[in-house]
Amino acid sequence: MTLSGKKIIIGITGGIAAYKTCDLIRKLIKLNADVRAVITPAAKKFVTETTLRTLTRNSVYCEQFDVPEWKPEHISLADSADLFLIVPASANTIGKMANGICDNLLTSLIAAFNKPVILAPAMNCNMWENSFVQENIVKLEKAGFYIIPPESGELACGYEGTGRLADIGKILEKALEILSKEKFLQGKKIIITAGGTKEPIDPVRYIGNRSSGKMGIALADAAYSFGADVTLVSTIKVDKPYKIINLSTAMEMLETVKNEFSQVDALIMAAAVADFRVNSTSDHKIKKGEKENITLELVKNPDILKEISKIKRDNQVLVGFCAESQDLIENAKKKIGSKNLDFIIANDISDKEIGFNSDYNAVTIIDKFMNEIKIDKTLKKELAKIILKEIFK
Ligand code: PMT
Repeated sequence: MTLSGKKIIIGITGGIAAYKTCDLIRKLIKLNADVRAVITPAAKKFVTETTLRTLTRNSVYCEQFDVPEWKPEHISLADSADLFLIVPASANTIGKMANGICDNLLTSLIAAFNKPVILAPAMNCNMWENSFVQENIVKLEKAGFYIIPPESGELACGYEGTGRLADIGKILEKALEILSKEKFLQGKKIIITAGGTKEPIDPVRYIGNRSSGKMGIALADAAYSFGADVTLVSTIKVDKPYKIINLSTAMEMLETVKNEFSQVDALIMAAAVADFRVNSTSDHKIKKGEKENITLELVKNPDILKEISKIKRDNQVLVGFCAESQDLIENAKKKIGSKNLDFIIANDISDKEIGFNSDYNAVTIIDKFMNEIKIDKTLKKELAKIILKEIFK
């Protein structure tokens, strides 16, 4: 196996097992991976920057604010890598990651990283068994981190117990397994829409909705990390390594999606598209004047999914979202039929904790045969991966 073209970040935290990470780096380099070492200040007590620089043949990263480029280091490193390994992962860094603390480059990088992460903890056996450490491990595992538990035996601190870094061969094997299967969308072209459309009233005002674009952007990020050629059609401006088309209105979204659709394998409509637009928008700002009321006449927007379903080929996949506050599943199933969809992702927007403008969502994935898969409240960035795996499995 070769890891040519794969970018791997090795995070090293302060623990005696850090010397074993050098062997892991050597093995990854032998497989032609591009390895970058990111170390915590405590890791410097156990392994030198010179050793890591020589082994990785790259710069070693430690200081958060020592930035030579315009883009913050934690963002550019996070964007470019395929896999993040933290070997060894100390109780301290595990605690920070599980609680969203970003007080050094490594923890900031993890918070900005949306691709697979492998953690190989190593510490004293009593620390490993500490209930807070265990809670944090469970939390990280639930969030999708791959944990390679420590092994039992004689520990460097003189104790006998569980806490020794897992065998380097085992960690390498997991990395290879993930890198080979995580690219299951390689060769697929996917359009994903995100955000709420803005229907102009005059040059200043518009009719909009509360969609933040988080769900659609999480899907685009996940699809990209799985190897897809992604086009994000979005009303929200973001800077990402894939193609983005920014627009505002439902009519512009229809036009754009229609233009792109013939070249893609799938369309996922996570955008909240306005059902109506203002019939005649004013060229100038509408003045309040002496008026007590004004009336806006709204006309129906075309249904983008329905329009696209008319030109859809059998081998193309059409996925809609369904935002409802009542009779969610019943309405979602009706939409599968009326919009001729392969899948619909139903989310209950009456729950303020999920859906619109939240980092979380809870959905039911329904296919065209009316099979249902319920996913409980999950971070949108994790949910996006689950949705893609279900759609393309
Ligand atoms: O953006 P976030 O803050 O992260 O919130 C995510 C979300 C709640 C917006 C998202 O999860 C979601 O539910 N998006 C779809 C919202 C919606 O418009 O639902 P709907 O039930 O009205 O429409 C059903 C489907 O038809 C949707 O896929 C929609 O994109 C599509 N549609 C709707 C109207 C229209 N004119 N054309 C369409 O294609």
